[in-house]
Amino acid sequence: MTVRVTVADPTTHRCDVLTVGVFSAPARLEGIAAKIDQALGGHLARALQEERFTAEVGKVLVLYTHGRLPAARIAAVGLGDRAGFTLDRLRIASGAVARAAQDRHLNRLAFPPFALKEYEPAVIAAIRTEGALLGTYTFAKYKKDKGHDVNVDLLAANRAEATAVEGGRRRGQVIADAVNYARDLVNEPANVMTPEALAAEARRVTRGTKLKVQVWGPQDLKKRAMEVILAVGGASAHTPRVIIIDYVPSKPRRTIALAGKGVTFDTGGVDIKPADGMLTMKTDMAGAAAVLATMRALPLLTPQVRVTAAIAAVENAVGSRSMRPGDIITAMNGTTIEITNTDAEGRLILADTVAHLAAGKPDEIIDLATLTGAASVALGPYAAAAMGSDTALVERLVAAAGRVGERLVPFPLYEEYRQAMRSDVADIKNSGTRGGGAQKGAIVIREFTGGVPWAHLDIAPVAYLSGEEGTTPIQSRGASGFGVRTLLEYLTARS
Ligand code: BES
Ligand code: MN
Ligand code: ZN
Repeated sequence: MTVRVTVADPTTHRCDVLTVGVFSAPARLEGIAAKIDQALGGHLARALQEERFTAEVGKVLVLYTHGRLPAARIAAVGLGDRAGFTLDRLRIASGAVARAAQDRHLNRLAFPPFALKEYEPAVIAAIRTEGALLGTYTFAKYKKDKGHDVNVDLLAANRAEATAVEGGRRRGQVIADAVNYARDLVNEPANVMTPEALAAEARRVTRGTKLKVQVWGPQDLKKRAMEVILAVGGASAHTPRVIIIDYVPSKPRRTIALAGKGVTFDTGGVDIKPADGMLTMKTDMAGAAAVLATMRALPLLTPQVRVTAAIAAVENAVGSRSMRPGDIITAMNGTTIEITNTDAEGRLILADTVAHLAAGKPDEIIDLATLTGAASVALGPYAAAAMGSDTALVERLVAAAGRVGERLVPFPLYEEYRQAMRSDVADIKNSGTRGGGAQKGAIVIREFTGGVPWAHLDIAPVAYLSGEEGTTPIQSRGASGFGVRTLLEYLTARS
């Protein structure tokens, strides 16, 4: 999809579909929508009434204009009630209308200027661009049928407005491209997206940019005493990699470290998963994907914060070199871990990763990980869980997520969770009883943060939707790219 900005009057603009936003309670046409209806001789208002169009957010009604307008069709899209309008609703409505055009194999979709005095045209343009790009995302790489491509025109009333709209379009494009890039990485099967492939991908996307990248293989990890990562990745022919990416702006205000769980496939290890639990475990690198996609977007958004990312890429396989239940492993910071369950591998690889980042004394560490089924049980596919050692940091992340239409729910980290993870033979064990499973996972990671303010986002609930539950017009089945929008919003707000 390409999104372009054009100075044009919606009543004279030629296209396959012209979008008209409709508020509900009762369905009403205002401003430009009313002008378009007038040009149609009241045809739109009549159709909305005849169809009993409710204007629920993302509901779409497509009508032919039969030559009354240069636009061949009108797509009326519900925006919900006027009083409850939010940019989240606009993002969803924009995605819904773009998908409706895609489903009908229509090519040129136009959005007329949208005037709500509370919002700048640039903001509206950014959200519409994001929505359209997220809504039409498909993962068709391995299919003969690649689906249909839609192109979008954002109409502006005059040159000055077009300049503002173009700024918004650019921001929306950068953000949606980053989210869709993360979705692509997660949707790739594990036979393709191995640790070495993820590292090669990091090298590829950082080439020719301001980003600095380093890749550490097994020998480097050995030298750096990252024994936990080596133990988790030990049984796979696809050996582990740690990927370090650095974004250094000209005048950094602070340094934020990002860590990503990049388990390219999680069999569970010797504590093997049952078949239905294993089926979607190619998605266990969604934290890594969100971090890599965020880093890729930073040079395009130029926030004044230094961002250092560390991604641990491993395959948790079964084999004669697998770690065993009962093994004791020493992490990079000297802390010993008793392996009580080989399937609790995310916290293990993050132990070394976070310890490495903490040694660089950043101002904050944020990790993203598909860490626990427990978080999914608590929240369903509707929100991710946020935890950490620094309440203010967690609150800032929750707020940033709220501003960009992602949901983070704070979970507590009581001292009791730490006590529950006490080991008889090592400094800590890696799994406990089921209750509070998400928090117990986080507590293990906390042990390696070296006192640096730290937040942990357990994205297991939302990283991947395998059924209809939790899907929206901008989030179809498959990978979501969750976390990218929140991180980009957070990092730009902190600069
Ligand atoms: N990758 C899984 C968590 C997961 C589950 C992600 C479902 C996405 C969807 C993680 O490595 C895991 O297996 N966690 C265990 C921890 C337990 C053994 C303490 C879990 O949640 O069951
Ligand atoms: Mn696991
Ligand atoms: Zn896992």
